[in-house]
Amino acid sequence: MLHPHLRSTTDSAHRQLEKLFISMLQSVNSPEDYEGFLKIIAAFLLPMEEVLHQFPLKTLVPDIEARKRSKDLLEDIRYYDKKWELKQTAPLPPIFTIYHSIGALYVLEGSTLGGPIIAKMIRKQTGLDNTLLYFENYQEKRKSMWDNFRMALDQSVLQPHSEIITASAIGCFTAYQKWLEINNKPSYAKNSNSSM
Ligand code: HEM
Repeated sequence: MLHPHLRSTTDSAHRQLEKLFISMLQSVNSPEDYEGFLKIIAAFLLPMEEVLHQFPLKTLVPDIEARKRSKDLLEDIRYYDKKWELKQTAPLPPIFTIYHSIGALYVLEGSTLGGPIIAKMIRKQTGLDNTLLYFENYQEKRKSMWDNFRMALDQSVLQPHSEIITASAIGCFTAYQKWLEINNKPSYAKNSNSSM
């Protein structure tokens, strides 16, 4: 089955990204820091989601429309910076086929599982109680959304494409990691008003 294979193959990439994410989050100590941090991740996540959705995913993932999360991320950012638009896009991994798209979607959907842990850290460190739409995405539906997605991954029709899907998931983790490394600066506040 595809999901267990994806999970074990990407485990090390996930652990590396989780470590970096946590170390960056430790520098988020105010709403301004948080705003800057959201803008950094948005430069990767917004265009990534747009590219994914250019492929006809509905037959493979019937609830694909409900999995669009960019609007929540934008809403969180625009609470601080009303007219914010993304100007600088992070380098994205190659997404040439629907199978690449599924691999990258696995990374973005899986990230909803760590979301509540991240939101808890942000609440504690910044005192914020709002603008957590992106990290608290799906809420009480989180488990069922993930179970449905895992079932979609394990359809027999995807099995022959397992290698390309896995390579794409690793490519997505790696591209996100590189983008965050470039932007891993002590204070994110200085990014809040940049062109990003
Ligand atoms: C502070 C950062 C993070 C924490 C604490 C975290 C935590 C978690 C947790 C608790 C799970 C569930 C594991 C399980 O059920 O066995 C998970 C799964 C996952 N996370 Fe993260 N995560 C973080 C960041 C990320 C990021 C940034 C991404 C990608 C953009 C990501 C992608 C995934 C994926 C793909 C899975 C699914 C693994 C599977 O197939 O079961 N995570 N994460």
